[in-house]
Amino acid sequence: STAQIGVTGLAVMGSNLARNFARNGFTVAVHNRTAAKTRALVAEHGDEGTFVAAESAKEFVDALERPRRLIVMVKAGEPTDAVIDEFAPLLEPGDVIIDGGNAHFEDTRRRERQLRERGIHFVGVGISGGEEGALLGPSIMPGGSAESYASLGPLLEKIAAKAADGTPCTSHIGPDGAGHFVKMVHNGIEYADMQLIAEAYHLLRDVAGYSPARIAETFRAWNRGRLDSYLIEITAEVLAHTDAATGRPFVDVVADAAEQKGTGRWTVQIALDLGVPVSGIAEAVFARSVSGHAALRAASAELAGPRATPLSGAEADAFAAQVEQALYASKIVSYTQGFHQIRAGSEQYEWGVDPGAVAALWRGGCIIRAAFLDRIKAAYDARPDLPSLLSDAGFAGEIAAAQDDWRAVLVAAVRQGIPVPAFAASLAYYDALRAERLPAALTQGQRDFFGAHTYRRTDREGSFHTLWSGDRSEVSTD
Ligand code: 6PG
Repeated sequence: STAQIGVTGLAVMGSNLARNFARNGFTVAVHNRTAAKTRALVAEHGDEGTFVAAESAKEFVDALERPRRLIVMVKAGEPTDAVIDEFAPLLEPGDVIIDGGNAHFEDTRRRERQLRERGIHFVGVGISGGEEGALLGPSIMPGGSAESYASLGPLLEKIAAKAADGTPCTSHIGPDGAGHFVKMVHNGIEYADMQLIAEAYHLLRDVAGYSPARIAETFRAWNRGRLDSYLIEITAEVLAHTDAATGRPFVDVVADAAEQKGTGRWTVQIALDLGVPVSGIAEAVFARSVSGHAALRAASAELAGPRATPLSGAEADAFAAQVEQALYASKIVSYTQGFHQIRAGSEQYEWGVDPGAVAALWRGGCIIRAAFLDRIKAAYDARPDLPSLLSDAGFAGEIAAAQDDWRAVLVAAVRQGIPVPAFAASLAYYDALRAERLPAALTQGQRDFFGAHTYRRTDREGSFHTLWSGDRSEVSTD
């Protein structure tokens, strides 16, 4: 038993993670259901470090130092349960099973509970950064007990991405499902970021009249400013790419139906349960859904409405600058909503998640890594109890400066018939929060009218009902 860590499940993510551990000097036991994959990994990459190839589950477990640390890198869902059922009987109290897949945090809570009864630590770990991240340094969001982090943390800190200031992009998020919950919200924010970028692209294309190559240039320029981020960077790459077969811009030959594996949808489902308004993320999920309804779109193609008439010259460039403001302001709103969800989840499940630490470990390695996250970290460092990112004076000031352009972009989109659901939802959220009075008072009146659901008053404590079908006098219902 010489291996400090084991990885079972050697598809690309698993083998890249195993190689990352090996390259960082750890002895890594590797195992796969079909042993050919294990042999192939060692044959191709054995020179990168020290691997112990295990053919059977027993061999794998025997190869690990105690307490054992084994990472499961299989498909989320039933395959994870199957692997746990296979390994748990071979383990001893104090051993740690780590699930590095995109598991639903409720599954992680259940597994953690079940294994805890047998004295085994189960650690659900969110890992972001795709295949390259797994190999070169991902952002890692570990849940589970503090005790298991004490044993696992130093290894994760070694293989994680490092932020610009050198800090590893990992830290203990909180107990049981906290890590997978935070990874889920990461993905929700990822969906929102991608949708906002897509809307900006649509506007630059149809309202500013820019070509894909020109838009790539525009994103490249934005990437040198406050929007500096991985997603903006790869957007420029995708837009600058030419399809080899047709010579046309790649973006024009790809089918315009966005797919999803489900983590964005989970974010919204859980937000609904927690009562957290994540409208930007929800619109991003729905936008993917709309794009995929081919029959519905075909049946609606003749519906009346404006076609965009592109601007040109200086007007187009001035509009592009406004789009940057709209994108930045909307981005602040999505992160505000995502961090609200993290706070709400943390309160609901008593995880004690530190939002500033989450912002810190998203600064490198993950898909939503961005210069902007330094600012979010600073906002929470300055005020750990910050009720909302919008209550940070810095962000509030930036939105104040951006909002005229943000509104102008929405007006142009509406006039020209360009759908911008995430931009619009973000502005609506902002305006709803700043409104002195919301029409929710009328909603309460209607509810009381048809269902005697009662209402509260602005001028007195208590709950009331108006006798709508009687003499319309008011009664106290306390
Ligand atoms: C990451 C990503 C990754 C996710 C893909 C695909 O953090 O590395 O979030 O975990 O699975 O982005 O997601 P969709 O297929 O749902 O777009």
